[in-house]
Order: sequence, then structure tokens, then C-alpha cells
Amino acid sequence: MSLKSQVTPYSEIDVSKKGQVTKMFDKIAPYYDNLNRVLSLGIDVLWRKKAINLLKKESPSSILDIATGTADLAIEAAKVIRPKQIIGLDISANMLKIGDEKILKKGLNDVISLEQGDSENLRFETNTFDAVMAAFGVRNFENLEKGLAEMYRVLKPGGTIMVLEFSKPRHFPLKQLFNLYFKNILPVIGKIRSKDEKAYKYLYESVQAFPDYKDFTDILKRLGFTQADYKVLSAGICCIYIAKK
Ligand SMILES: C[S@@+](CC[C@H](N)C(=O)[O-])C[C@H]1O[C@@H](n2cnc3c(N)ncnc32)[C@H](O)[C@@H]1O
Repeated sequence: MSLKSQVTPYSEIDVSKKGQVTKMFDKIAPYYDNLNRVLSLGIDVLWRKKAINLLKKESPSSILDIATGTADLAIEAAKVIRPKQIIGLDISANMLKIGDEKILKKGLNDVISLEQGDSENLRFETNTFDAVMAAFGVRNFENLEKGLAEMYRVLKPGGTIMVLEFSKPRHFPLKQLFNLYFKNILPVIGKIRSKDEKAYKYLYESVQAFPDYKDFTDILKRLGFTQADYKVLSAGICCIYIAKK
């Protein structure tokens, strides 16, 4: 996909989407957790809980958390699923720094380890993990299919992919109300509190461009995943996608 047709945080034509996304998360990292709670009225915590409860049914003992950010999904998985090992990977050093502090504080550092890396070029061997998951991460990939194909590659046969991601509500009146909030109100609060002009405008625009519902499970199937399915949360604001290798 050319940079022109991609949704990027900043309009820097000579910097890749990956470069711009890294810069953006490095910049907003100190405000990220707090803004999540404020902007979603705390519902993002419940979405991650639901997603982890679904994944728990598969009892994975090794988990890779892609685009782990400040590690909220990895921490929830460690507490609820109690796997042997979770590796959280992210491209933004500043997001990981905050994640590391939280993990240490909660005494989960013998289960979760964080590392910097690009989800489109994973260092892990093929067939390594029982589960690979991502919350609000895949939408930011420069090349969505390349990132998902890497998630497929490092999963063990029979392993589970779980993706939690924003979707576009489809029904009146939530569609209209949510659009008003997401497009006009949230970017203003985000701008003031994150001190970044563009980050929360990019959030709205990237969700509009993202293939949701069946469009996303169709991509998973095309990449070789089986039993691809989704669960709609909060009347379509968010979806949990689950599939198998
Ligand atoms: C919206 S945050 C989600 C963080 C966390 N999963 C959560 O639930 O709050 C998106 C994260 O994706 C990371 N990211 C974006 N592109 C990436 C890539 N190519 N490889 C690894 N991480 C990436 C960003 O640095 C950021 O921390």
C-alpha cells in the first residue's frame, strides 16, 4: 500500500507509517493509560477482560502479546489465564518503559517479559506460541497482512490468535452518537491531555479505514487461519476476533 493511501498520524511524506506511529506512541506514552480510562469511561478495561476470558478457554501456556504497549492486556492475561510465559512486544520504547514499571510493581516479572521489536518482522521461530494476541494494535501496522502473517507463523499448529480492535457501530442511534463523539469530541480531549495535535484524530481516521467484522475474518481466512469468528462488544464499538492455526 502506498503511503499516500495509508492513514498516518502525521503528514510527513518522507517518514513511513511505522516511523510516524512509533514517534506518536513514544510521545503520548506518559498520558496513554490515563487517556484510555477517561476517553472510554473505563470500558476499555472491561473489553480487555472479556477478550482474555475468551482466550482463557484455550488454556495457552505460552503467549505472545503483539503491540503490548503499556502491557495492560499481558497483565490481565497473567492474572486470569496464569500461563507459564508471556512475551510482550512493541515498537515504542517509551510505552514499554511504562509497561515494565507496571509489571514490576505487580510482581509479574517472572511471567511477563517485554521487548522492543516490529510485529511485521518477528525474531521468534515458526510454531512457538500457544496463543498470539493483540489489543488495539493491528490497526497501526504499516502492512496489516504482513503483521497477521507473522502472527500466524509463530503460532503453534492448533494455536489461537485473539485480536481486540475498534470497529464501526452499524446501527442507529449509536452509530450517529458514537461518530459524533469519536470524530469531534474525543480528538479535542485527546489533544489537550496528550499534548499531541494529531494522535486522537489519527485514532478516528484509522478506525474508519480498518477492515472490521467479516472483512477482518476474511483476511484471517485468506492468510490460512481457520474457525475465524468475531464477538461484537458495546454494540459494535469494538470486536474480539478469534481464529486457529
Ligand atoms: C493503541 S496501543 C495498544 C497498546 C495495548 N495493547 C493496549 O491494549 O493498550 C498500540 C500499540 O501498537 C504499537 N505498534 C504499532 N505498530 C507496531 C509494530 N509494527 N510493531 C510493534 N508494535 C507496534 C504501538 O507502539 C502502541 O504501543
